[in-house]
Order: sequence, then C-alpha cells, then structure tokens
Amino acid sequence: MKALQWQGDHLLILNQTKLPFEEQYREAYSYTDVADAIKGMEVRGAPAIGAAAAFGYALGALKYQGHIDDFKNTMEEVRSTLEGTRPTAVNLSWALNKMEDKFREYNDSQDIETIRTALVKEAEDIAEDDRRMNRLIGEYGNTVVPEKANILTHCNTGSLATVEYGTALGIIRAAHESGKKVHVYAGETRPFLQGARLTVWELVQDQIPMTLITDNMAGYLMQQGKIDMVVVGADRIATNGDTANKIGTYTLAVLAAAHDIPFYIAAPTTTIDLKISSGNEIPIEERDANEVRSIMGVKIVPDDVQVYNPSFDITPSKYISGIITEKGIVTAPYSVNMLKLLVK
Ligand code: MRU
Repeated sequence: MKALQWQGDHLLILNQTKLPFEEQYREAYSYTDVADAIKGMEVRGAPAIGAAAAFGYALGALKYQGHIDDFKNTMEEVRSTLEGTRPTAVNLSWALNKMEDKFREYNDSQDIETIRTALVKEAEDIAEDDRRMNRLIGEYGNTVVPEKANILTHCNTGSLATVEYGTALGIIRAAHESGKKVHVYAGETRPFLQGARLTVWELVQDQIPMTLITDNMAGYLMQQGKIDMVVVGADRIATNGDTANKIGTYTLAVLAAAHDIPFYIAAPTTTIDLKISSGNEIPIEERDANEVRSIMGVKIVPDDVQVYNPSFDITPSKYISGIITEKGIVTAPYSVNMLKLLVK
C-alpha cells in the first residue's frame, strides 16, 4: 500500500478518508489539488505530508505557463498555499524549504525546463530519503522491542503516514519481520480514527497480530500488565525533546510513566525543529467541531453542542524513554543529546 505515487506529471494520492472500506485515489495535477488533499486529510501523517508538499511544489513549477520573470512570485504563492494547509507537522515546512532552496539554486539558469527537472528530482529525493530513514528507524527501534512484546501504539504511523514502511509502525513491522512474536494494541484514535481505520488496515494486511481498543482502555490494560512498551510517532520535536503528536499521546505517556512502561517516540530527524527549544512553541492545529460531533459521518450529538477539537498534544520529554531516529536512539538529557545526534 502506498500513500503517494509520483506518475511523471501528477501525484497519485490514496484518499485515506475513505479507508478501510474504499480504496479511492486522487490524481493531483496541480499544487492546489495537493493542498486540498493535505487540508482534507486525504493524505496525512507528518512525513507523508512533507513528501506530498514537495511534489505539490514541483507541480506548481510544472504547470507554470508565464514568463521566467514572474516565476519566482508564482512559486512563493505555491509555497505559501501548501504551507498553509496544516500547522503542526514540521516536515511540511522542512520539505518546502528544501524545494525552495533548490528553486533558488536553479533560478539563475533562466531556463524553466531546467528548473522543473531539478524540482521533480528534489521531490523524488525527499521521498526516497524518507523510505531509507524509515527502514533505519525500524532497525534501531527493533533493538528495544522485547521478544513477544505487547506493544501499544496510537494514531497511524505506517506506510500510509510516510512514503513507505512507517516510523512507529515501521518498528513494529521490523520486529515482526525479524521473527519476534509481537502483538499490537492499536488505539482507535478519536475523533479521526486513524488507529481503527488505518493502523488496523495496515496490520491486517501484514498479518501482524493485533487487538483494537478504544482510547480510554489504555490505562486499564497497563494496570493489568498487558502492555510491555508504547511506541508512537511525532509531528514536531523541540530541541529539548518535547514532542507534538496526535491528541491522546500525552495521556498515554503519563499512563506509561505511572506503570513503569517504556514510552518511545519514533521519527526521522526531519521532524526535529531546531528553531524551537520547547514544546510550548509548537502550534497545535484545531480542527472542525463536526469531527467530534459525529463518528464516520453519523451524528452523535446535536449540531449546536459546543466542542473542542485540538488535533495534537505535547508530551514533555521527561515522559519519553527514547526518541528513535534514523541516526540512532536519543535519550535524556535531550537538549544535549539531540544536538549531538544531529551532527552525526
Ligand atoms: O492528523 P494526522 O493523521 O496527520 O496525525 C498523524 C500523527 O499524529 C502521526 O503520529 C505523526 O504524524 C507521525 S506519522 C509517521
């Protein structure tokens, strides 16, 4: 299963809002198509959003019809439209920075075709790099997975959330592939149900033993000794290790600490935001109230019921046993060790 596939002149996007009951694809021929797909959660998950935005940027250049002199202004508009789609995952601006750097590098060539070729190549490199990083995260992560572990995960961090394989789910895949008899507890992840709809779908396809639970069951399972470790993804990591991830992650981290259960974050280093020092500075996306007022399109309360729908929360680094990246596993003190890792 692939969240994104570059087709030479367009991006094929698996519409994740329709899963698991329908496999529907969007053919994105313009940067606005890609922006709509990101905003509408057809493609989601920090690394997948970053790669999609990179291809969206390339599409902006491919479809440009004007003179070279106006090219720069148009590409600024392309960038700001893509960047404005979702605020929390830093992979989005990371990928757009890389694309813009490439654009600037070639802009002096005065040849639109040369610039287009360079931008498509850069987007393909970003996607390829994500595949490579996920495999390494899987390898490093597998070293901390015990034999026969019962692993709790949250949201979806698999192939659907990345270009391929996954981060936290990649570690679970790597453990399973290496012959460890792991069993996964997947939290359903209200309100958007990424756990129930997407993680379960991926685990079933890979025949990895799993049990679906509702989010409010996690504490009880931990209390019963049914969870050996928790591993989740990240949307943005501050240099002190504080981590933004899907709403409910913080709850799991506190519960894990209370039960002395290792709690790991898995993410490529592209999710680390060097510009911010703590989680307080991470912007938290608030989504449409109707996501909470209904489940899979079925209303559960009247339309006028007041709702709060933050899409992410911040887990302070003191609750994190380790951050598993493609360069290795970082542990506390994060402010020191994160920088050491990045210069590796
Ligand atoms: O709102 P989403 O579905 O984009 O949120 C996704 C998450 O929170 C993931 O855990 C995170 O992006 C890591 S995906 C490898």
